[in-house]
Formats: sequence, C-alpha cells, structure tokens
Amino acid sequence: MQKPLLFSPLTLRSVTAPNRAVVSPMVQYRATDGLVNDYHLVHLGKFALGKFGIVFTENCAVEPRGRVTQGDLGMWDDGQIEGHKRLVRFLKQEGSLAATQITHSGRKGSTPRSFDKPGQLGPEGAGWQKWQVVGPSELAAADGFMVPRQLDHADIDDLLKKFGEAARRADAAGYDVIEIHGAHGYLLAQFLSPVSNKRNDQYGGDRAGRMRFPLAAARAVRENWPAHKPMFIRVSAVDGAGDGGWGVDDTVAFAKELKALGVDVIDVSSGGLTGVSTALPVKRSLGFQVPFSAAVKRQAEISTMAVGLILDGPQAEAILQAGDADLIAIGRQALYDPFWTVHAAQELGCDSDFEMWTPEYGWWLDKRKNNLVGLKK
Ligand SMILES: Cc1cc2nc3c(=O)[nH]c(=O)nc-3n(C[C@H](O)[C@H](O)[C@H](O)COP(=O)(O)O)c2cc1C
Repeated sequence: MQKPLLFSPLTLRSVTAPNRAVVSPMVQYRATDGLVNDYHLVHLGKFALGKFGIVFTENCAVEPRGRVTQGDLGMWDDGQIEGHKRLVRFLKQEGSLAATQITHSGRKGSTPRSFDKPGQLGPEGAGWQKWQVVGPSELAAADGFMVPRQLDHADIDDLLKKFGEAARRADAAGYDVIEIHGAHGYLLAQFLSPVSNKRNDQYGGDRAGRMRFPLAAARAVRENWPAHKPMFIRVSAVDGAGDGGWGVDDTVAFAKELKALGVDVIDVSSGGLTGVSTALPVKRSLGFQVPFSAAVKRQAEISTMAVGLILDGPQAEAILQAGDADLIAIGRQALYDPFWTVHAAQELGCDSDFEMWTPEYGWWLDKRKNNLVGLKK
C-alpha cells in the first residue's frame, strides 16, 4: 500500500516536517508577562508526544499592546527567549518541528478571554488591566471593542522593527518555522481590508496601499529569519465583512507578493474582521475553508496549509490527494484528541502496529492489542 500523503515528509527550505499534520496556533491565556511556563510546555508537549509533524505555539505578541488578552504569550523581550527555548527543546526532542506564530492584535487587543463572563477581565484576582489599542484608523471592530488610536508613521516604523526583532528572538529560541498572523481581523488584516483601513496616506487607499504595511512586516521578518528556515503567513481569504471587504482575489494577489519576498506557505483561514475571531461569519461545514486554500495554492502557485473543521485522517488525506493544500492544520480536534496524528495513521491503515507512536506508549499498546482480541465489555 502506498504511504498516505499525510504521512509523507515535507521539506521546506532546509527543514523537514516528518508528516503533514500540524497543530494550529491556539491561544490559552495562561501566560504572565508573555512568558512561556509549565502550562505551555505540557499543553504543547502532549501534541509532540502525539506525533504532529509541526506544533505551533499560540500567537505571540511583538509588543505588549499587541496581545489579544493579558495572558497571551510574547516575543517582545529577550527575557522571553529562555522559556521558548525550553519548549522548543522538548518539541524537537520528540520529533516535531517547533513553530511559532507572531502577531499584533491592533484594534482587537485588550479583550477578555473568550470564556470570560460579562464584566469579567481575565482570571479572578489576576488584576488584568485594559490598555489603549492601536489600528490603521479610528474605527472599532464592533460594539464592545475599543476605538483604536490611529498609528502614525513613526509608530509604523517602530512596529516593523518589532516584527523583525520578534523573528530574531524566535530564531534564537530555536524555532524551525515562523508564521505571521495576518488573519482574523488582527492588525495586518486591519490594514488589508478597506472596511477597517480608511487611511489616505501610503498605507491606505487602493489595494497596493493597504498591502504596504503587511508586506513590509513580512519583509522585516524574512530579513531577520534565517534563509534556511521556512516562513508562513496566516491570512483570512475573505475578511467576513461582506461586500466591499477583502476577498479571495485580493488574497491571491497578496500571496503572489508574499511569495516574491520569500514566504513559503500561506496558511489559509477566513473571517474575523468585525468581531470576535470565534464568530467567523463564514458558513461552517466540514473543511469549509479548504476551497480558499485550493484557490490560493493554484492561482498564486504557492504551498498552502488548510485549516478549519478538519476532523479525521481520511478527510485530511483527501484534501492532500486533491492537491488543495500541502499541510493540514488541526485546531479544536487536537484539543479533543492530542493523539490525533497517530489515530489518523490507524484510520488510514498505515500503523496497525503502533510503530508511529512514541515507543514508551506504542510497545504496550501493540501488546495490549492481542490481549483485546475476543474480549467483550
Ligand atoms: C482555543 C483556540 C485558540 C485559538 N488561537 C488562535 C491563535 O492564537 N492564532 C490563530 O491564528 N488562530 C487561533 N485560533 C484558530 C485556530 O488556529 C483554527 O484556525 C480554528 O480553530 C479553526 O480550526 P479547527 O476547526 O480545526 O479548530 C484559535 C482557536 C481556538 C479553538
């Protein structure tokens, strides 16, 4: 039997993912001062034990006000490198590539956690404070979001340096892959969309103007990220703001420019511009964003990662076989099943002997397999 594509290695620049299953970035709100702690090590470490080819950290802010909540991870200070290093060491020791996502929340910063009750801001007693958010224009994302202060040119130059510095820190920590978060209505997406970007300087106006800051941020990262390591960017293929917003054709044009400046993979998501990112105004069905990935891959001729309601091995394999994506990101299904990858291998019939599992588990599970034959509950 031919090996499923899901379990074929993928080499990007000089880095090889052992398989195509990726843990999607998922913020946990568990950091203090942006520092990696034991929670992050255990939370992400278990996905490496589960044999995901690439394990992404949550979004790590390039400056404190670029966090979504006060509990997000950071990449804004050299003092944060050590914690990342410990995490990276573990992920790589277990055979995964270590990947991080860097971000700026822009006007969607300084929010409660998704599960906070009305009026609650962060864990009880933690003393989380609001901060003034920034954005391309003085427009709030939606009711309940703060009106941002408009970034001036000095702010923009400073932010570009911060994206570059964050990339340098990610490399120092040992990450194999870096991704810029350009989706879900955060700062880069705010610049891209005509709905949130009403500037009349060189960073606004037509599509080329609105792409100028995101492209400059990507360039700053590429310049500070080693040439032998791959760089991804996550985009919202459609911004979710409806007619007059950012659409698939815009994304394809953006992807072509990104490719030219050295981006290797477009991670294709959608929505989030005008509200909370969990309320993406795109109809949800299994693999609902895969057609966006397919469009970007074919039209911009660049590798892509598909994400969004991809639940099992056969579904992931079908996406890869159809040539609709090169990598498969798993979000909530990985929370449900941290061993998603090795379970997918069994579903696809390529690991009946538990050989893909970490041997400390797999050897025992294979022995137990024989014990279970003929047993009924
Ligand atoms: C708890 C949680 C936190 C998330 N945090 C991030 C994040 O930090 N960065 C990001 O790009 N997407 C984030 N997302 C979106 C996921 O990466 C993913 O795109 C989304 O959940 C859809 O994929 P799924 O259906 O496999 O969960 C988050 C999703 C969840 C459930």
